[in-house]
Amino acid sequence: MDAATLKRRAGERAVEAVDDGDVVGLGSGSTAAAAIRALGERVDSGLDIQGVPTSHQSREIALDVGIPVVDLDQVEGVDVAIDGADQVATDAAAASAAGAPPLIKGGGGCHAREKIVDAAAEELVIVVDPSKLVPSLDDSVPVEVLPAARTTVADDLRDLGGEPTLRDATEKSGPVVTDNGNLLLDADFGAIDDHASLATDLAGIPGVLEHGIFVDLADRVLVGREDGVEQLTIG
Ligand code: A5P
Repeated sequence: MDAATLKRRAGERAVEAVDDGDVVGLGSGSTAAAAIRALGERVDSGLDIQGVPTSHQSREIALDVGIPVVDLDQVEGVDVAIDGADQVATDAAAASAAGAPPLIKGGGGCHAREKIVDAAAEELVIVVDPSKLVPSLDDSVPVEVLPAARTTVADDLRDLGGEPTLRDATEKSGPVVTDNGNLLLDADFGAIDDHASLATDLAGIPGVLEHGIFVDLADRVLVGREDGVEQLTIG
């Protein structure tokens, strides 16, 4: 079974958590896209919801499938957000006291708005295929930076032990420019022993808009598997 099928399974299961009247955070990336499309089918069948997109991508898909979209500042709150991840750490030791696994997000460069919407949600449901599960985080950490701060942030990332790379666009000359008009540095820290303290350090660098380590935010992780959908138990 291919990854796209497993992602779709996880996305379809996640939308079962959505109730009539909900405000739903719409994550970005291919797995969240599958969830948004599944949500659109429920809207077609009469479900009354509002969606808060986390990117141009999720806004376009939501409009395409008929989900009414609103900005975060137009709603009282977000009932549930459904989002993907690049890595989910499954070691019990990595989880927060509440059992939330740490995540790395931002492979699609959307982690700033994702973090804002995901953090505002009463419940955050993360949807992944099994390739995203790792014992502990070791991916490069996407860091969105104000363009004028690119070199100073890169120096600060090196001081923290990271090796930053400016993310280049593939179908445009030059760097990726985010939905917010900023640049992305992918910082390779190797195996991340203390993700919580690294997250705090990254957040404190002047010029960093947002980084891709998500600490203590995920309420549930749904993993699409060949034999169904597993709700992850940490440890
Ligand atoms: C977008 O910036 C990311 O945070 C995505 O949520 C993440 O990269 C997962 O994407 P896929 O579902 O496409 O793997």
